[in-house]
Amino acid sequence: MKIAEARAVITGGASGLGNAVARLVVASGGRAAMLDVQEGPGRAAAAELGPAATFIKCDVTSESEVNAAMSAARDAMGGLNLLVNCAGVVGAGRMLGRSGPMPGDFFTKVIHINLIGTFLCDKAAAAIMQNNPPGADGERGVLIHTSSVAAFEGQIGQVAYSATKAGVMGMTLPLARELAQFGIRVMSIAPGIFLTPMANAMTPELQQSLARQVPFPQRFGKPEEFAQLVAAIFENPMLNGETIRLDGAIRMQPK
Ligand SMILES: NC(=O)c1ccc[n+]([C@@H]2O[C@H](COP(=O)([O-])OP(=O)(O)OC[C@H]3O[C@@H](n4cnc5c(N)ncnc54)[C@H](O)[C@@H]3O)[C@@H](O)[C@H]2O)c1
Repeated sequence: MKIAEARAVITGGASGLGNAVARLVVASGGRAAMLDVQEGPGRAAAAELGPAATFIKCDVTSESEVNAAMSAARDAMGGLNLLVNCAGVVGAGRMLGRSGPMPGDFFTKVIHINLIGTFLCDKAAAAIMQNNPPGADGERGVLIHTSSVAAFEGQIGQVAYSATKAGVMGMTLPLARELAQFGIRVMSIAPGIFLTPMANAMTPELQQSLARQVPFPQRFGKPEEFAQLVAAIFENPMLNGETIRLDGAIRMQPK
């Protein structure tokens, strides 16, 4: 499938990586529905992109909101053949932090947004995609997870985040195998450090120190580069059941 044919739901589409994906899809002639909890920025982003873009307020942790938003997105776009899960939170903190042991509720919240949220969106999107008319090779749709290099070499303070990012990576192959009968592919992208509002929350010193750890190119990734990989995955039917690191060869240090 060509990206111009994409009818894409992008969670976390109001900001950062998700927003860059929405921009690329629309600029390429496709349609995008941005799902996010941030209503103001989401509506502004959709208005800027024009009639091929829609914003739907949705909390990915709510099964009923996700199901309703996915149907609304399909109706608004006249179809749904791509889901890009970008909604996520950093959830930083040590298990034994300065202010005491991490509350279980905090850990649960991060898992709920990053991991269970991805599952709920995958499920709602695939339930719609399975009824799409088959294209070449019987293809009906593509699900993309946003993992992280923290799935492989999580740093101190990333115990919750790493668990979620390894979780979405772990769902990739079993879902690709399960959904093969419907012609739905499943892939994960594990970004290194990308310059988005999430990374902007770091101090300039930390940003510089992290950028120096990237062998080449020695800088943070650009959200457009993430979007480029999403398009490549969508267009290449042999990419399935795998996690691709997109990281300039960085291997994160313990801290
Ligand atoms: N920026 C990086 O360096 C980097 C690296 C590796 C992985 N990632 C992952 O990429 C994804 C996008 O990150 P980003 O850098 O664009 O961050 P971002 O903060 O710019 O965007 C994340 C978006 O998710 C939305 N969101 C949060 N909780 C939500 C919920 N419950 N329901 C719906 N939307 C919700 C936020 O409102 C925000 O718009 C995240 O999953 C993140 O973990 C980012």
